[in-house]
Amino acid sequence: MKLKLSNVARAFGRHKALDGVSLEVRDCRALVFIGPSGGGKSTLLRILAGLEKPDSGEVEINGKPLVFEEAQLLKHRRNLGVVFQGFNLFPHLSAVENVVLPLTAVHGHTHAQAREVAMELLRRFQLDAHADKKPAALSGGQKQRIAIARALAVQPQVLLLDEPTSALDPAMTAEVLETIELLRDQGRDFILATHEMGFARKVADQVAFIAEGRLVELAEPGTLFGASSAPATRRFLERVLRW
Ligand SMILES: Nc1ncnc2c1ncn2[C@@H]1O[C@H](COP(=O)(O)OP(=O)(O)OP(=O)(O)O)[C@@H](O)[C@H]1O
Ligand SMILES: [Mg+2]
Repeated sequence: MKLKLSNVARAFGRHKALDGVSLEVRDCRALVFIGPSGGGKSTLLRILAGLEKPDSGEVEINGKPLVFEEAQLLKHRRNLGVVFQGFNLFPHLSAVENVVLPLTAVHGHTHAQAREVAMELLRRFQLDAHADKKPAALSGGQKQRIAIARALAVQPQVLLLDEPTSALDPAMTAEVLETIELLRDQGRDFILATHEMGFARKVADQVAFIAEGRLVELAEPGTLFGASSAPATRRFLERVLRW
């Protein structure tokens, strides 16, 4: 994936959630955002997802400018997979029907075609035994992996993941991280915001450290985690890695 941000800014009232972020990556499969809570990671992901408009600045994904105008945004959202923090599944639909829905409703598949695609994905994630369960009967890790399967069903150009493990216990976190790692190994491009530093270090091609609405540093994980020259990054890592 190629991504270029030029001076992206977004304020909520007087608070600058993003204060002019510029960033460029090329040939990057896994871009990972880290940084302190409230730093602007989710706001940036929501902008990339076309769910939030920046006040100013430009975004280019794979060489195409993102146009923040409703009809274009709708098209953009169709080509993306998004998995956010909570579980975004429809509670009244079974696991497999949750994956089927965007394929039939947005992408024009017949129900039979969609079901085939969905079951294939569930098999890939070893979730096929749970296909007919409603979300309430699934564990947190299973729910989040279904949400990932659903995001992938439409074969998105890029998958956006915002703290997909934040509501999970360690075993479920491991399950979900293994799934994301598998995607990486299969060559799926993704952008992930996470507080899991070990995972960020392991899967990222590039890590962006974002704090107070600014990009403090963009580097390969070996550099950023091993020998960052930015004092703010080092202070943050010292604190979070201590525990
Ligand atoms: N819809 C909103 N209305 C008002 N303020 C918002 C809104 N969304 C985000 N903010 C503010 O913008 C700042 C950045 O928030 P954001 O959610 O992007 O941070 P984050 O880096 O994702 O944090 P965390 O690691 O806790 O998820 C925060 O101060 C937050 O309170
Ligand atoms: Mg966030």
